[in-house]
Amino acid sequence: MVTQFIDSYARKFYYLRLSITDVCNFRCTYCLPDGYKPQGTTNKSFLSLDEIRRVTRAFANAGTEKVRLTGGEPSLRRDFVDIIAAVRENPGITQLAVTTNGYRMARDVARWRAAGLTSINVSVDSLDARQFHAITGQDKFHQVMRGIDAAFEAGFSKIKVNSVLMRDVNHHSLHTFLDWIRHRPIQLRFIELMETGEGSDLFRRHHLSGEVIRDQLIMQGWQRQLRERSDGPAQVFRHPDYQGEIGLIMPYEKDFCASCNRLRVSAIGNLHLCLFGDSGVPLRDLLASDEQQDELQARIAASLGRKKQTHFLHQGNTGITQNLSFIGG
Ligand code: GTP
Ligand code: 5AD
Ligand code: SF4
Repeated sequence: MVTQFIDSYARKFYYLRLSITDVCNFRCTYCLPDGYKPQGTTNKSFLSLDEIRRVTRAFANAGTEKVRLTGGEPSLRRDFVDIIAAVRENPGITQLAVTTNGYRMARDVARWRAAGLTSINVSVDSLDARQFHAITGQDKFHQVMRGIDAAFEAGFSKIKVNSVLMRDVNHHSLHTFLDWIRHRPIQLRFIELMETGEGSDLFRRHHLSGEVIRDQLIMQGWQRQLRERSDGPAQVFRHPDYQGEIGLIMPYEKDFCASCNRLRVSAIGNLHLCLFGDSGVPLRDLLASDEQQDELQARIAASLGRKKQTHFLHQGNTGITQNLSFIGG
């Protein structure tokens, strides 16, 4: 029987964020400042291709339309192209996205597209190569920029770029970012820094409310757009003089969770009901064979009753989330 995934607050889930590895080769100051360290997992224990096929089928059967592959850095997996193809075997999954640091894009993006990837979000926290290096720990600004060009050449029509705006680090560069999208079909998303278990000091020093940016945009004539049902959490703004768009991700806003439409599965196969929740519901024992499909769907559906109304970030909660690479952002 097909059960639609719906929680006690009548929120429906159209969007699965599936982490396929927690390994990353960058060291973003707000995420993995000391670089990747295994967190009780080894490469071997990340979901296999067959497990990924089964878990995405269960979500597709229950109405999921969009899957986002996350990490760590998802494209570091050697079978990344096969994973894309396996997820797209589900006819109901019409949107398959990736969130990437861009490291492999220049080399591989055409193959991702050919395998069935439909959209890309790439992190670029600064348009200044030196500052990019300082924030990410990798001197790869030009490589990532070439990757974005390659993605357009490969046929991706709109690319989203994520920038975590930090007070006294990169927030003075707003005008540089805006100039960059004047003639580019990019949705540039400013993400408010989130406090994690490992990032409390950084948060205290550099958190900047998205409201400051929103006020500046509105003053400059940017207009808020309506939201589609499988959209992520960004509030989208457009301006007649710009080809690109702005997205604002403001997790500390009171109503941020009211429109939550997404669930998460970690690279070791735990279902997470929230980015800032608990250790998750293990699904892996039900991913070993196709015969377990109904039981898998039933367990996911039953777990949704435990999804809380909000993440309580505004009350200082960080849950067990030490950094976002652990759970896929
Ligand atoms: P689209 O699906 O393209 O709209 O993207 P998205 O914003 O959902 O995905 P992306 O991976 O680019 O995430 C951008 C930022 O939004 C990251 O910092 C995520 O952690 C954050 N984010 C996404 N979903 C949630 C959520 O449910 N809660 C919180 N607090 N942050 C989220
Ligand atoms: N606060 C806000 N955004 C974060 N990301 C990672 N850690 C944090 C944090 N503490 C963002 C990255 C990437 C996305 C997946 O998550 O910049 O764009
Ligand atoms: Fe890696 Fe993304 Fe975390 Fe940066 S934000 S360290 S690119 S997982």
